[in-house]
Amino acid sequence: MTECVYFASYLNQPAMDAIVISEQELNQLRQETAGTANIIHFNNAGASLPPDVVVDTVVDYLKEEALAGGYETEYKYREQLADTYTAIARLINAEQDEIAIVENASTAWCMAFNGIDFIAGDEVITSEMEYVTNIIGFVNAEKNRGIKIKLIPNDENGNFSLAELENAISPKTKLIAITHIASTTGGMIPIVEIGKIANKHNILYLVDACQSAGQVPVDVKEIGCDMLSVTGRKYLRAPRGTGFLFVKKEVQDKLKPLFMDGFSAPDVKLAGFNLRNDARRFELYEKNRALTLGLGKAIEYALTIGIDRIWQRVQLLATALRAELTDIDGITVHDFGPEQCGIVTFTVSGLDAAQVKNHLAQKHINVSVGKAISTLYFMNKNNLTNVVRASVHYYNTEQEINTICDELRALLKQ
Ligand SMILES: Cc1ncc(COP(=O)(O)O)c(C=O)c1O
Repeated sequence: MTECVYFASYLNQPAMDAIVISEQELNQLRQETAGTANIIHFNNAGASLPPDVVVDTVVDYLKEEALAGGYETEYKYREQLADTYTAIARLINAEQDEIAIVENASTAWCMAFNGIDFIAGDEVITSEMEYVTNIIGFVNAEKNRGIKIKLIPNDENGNFSLAELENAISPKTKLIAITHIASTTGGMIPIVEIGKIANKHNILYLVDACQSAGQVPVDVKEIGCDMLSVTGRKYLRAPRGTGFLFVKKEVQDKLKPLFMDGFSAPDVKLAGFNLRNDARRFELYEKNRALTLGLGKAIEYALTIGIDRIWQRVQLLATALRAELTDIDGITVHDFGPEQCGIVTFTVSGLDAAQVKNHLAQKHINVSVGKAISTLYFMNKNNLTNVVRASVHYYNTEQEINTICDELRALLKQ
């Protein structure tokens, strides 16, 4: 297997103690990410460029599986595979037995939401930032389980109202389900303050941290959430097809697993079965071991840099990009709220977001199109059918920001 050489060299650098990611450190991080030499990647909210060590870990493992056998390789790497749970637990300040590894955030969220024992009349409170998977879950449960969804819209400045949340709570409120960072706008929802209210009223609290993990410090104890869903490929820089679900120990018995096999329920008799005594009851036996290792490596990589430092640089770059875009005639930025993240969204007058994306792709700049379907409440409210989404990560540079803005200015002149 590939040695994690960068850790040693990295830890010896005095810059590690510094808060700000230095230019020297940034160069090293970029050297450790092959993709940064080829393209300007502002699609980190889609899927980030993985560090080389993550790619090598996955490829080497797959090769070893092919030569030695899948079960045999798993046995050899059983400790490293277990380390992925440890890394996730460290990342979000949870316990290992509160983590289930799944293939994406949608699976994680659906496991949590659909596992709740809703009865007709139960109420779920949410915000306008919800992702499409979650909205489908709400609509489905409204139709088939008789629950009611209560939406707390942000005000015109993008502020979430904690007072309105308090007002919306009733004896029937079973769940508060909140997306921390939406897919198609840069604002953030105050999940810690919401958690305090959820806990005060003893209401289950589910957080979609799909765009947050790897970008922003995420601490489940500070948030006070019962369940949290995450994907690997976005800000964590893990391989595609990875994700995880956190379920607080005390809440695990309140959720019904949607799928079960001999791994999730190892104590089986013909008269009945017992589930595992940890969150892996929400996993099935068969999963991609190579990707699990890759996820672990990506998280270790992020933790070695430090999530605080990553967050600081992401904010710095996003603020610079927003400021420069705002200065360009013909561009409107669509990020609201007191706190904003690395997702920068905008429209270009007279051009569809797909045209802008395609133009930039020709210049080797990756952005994506944020579609209405992804964040339906928010996009409908703001009459947006789509937006250009340029999502920065710490490995992006100020020079890259200048380049994309130069290209947009040139496009507007055409
Ligand atoms: C806020 C949010 N939640 C959930 C998801 C779903 O993640 P996945 O595609 O890993 O299921 C996304 C994907 O873009 C997202 O942006």
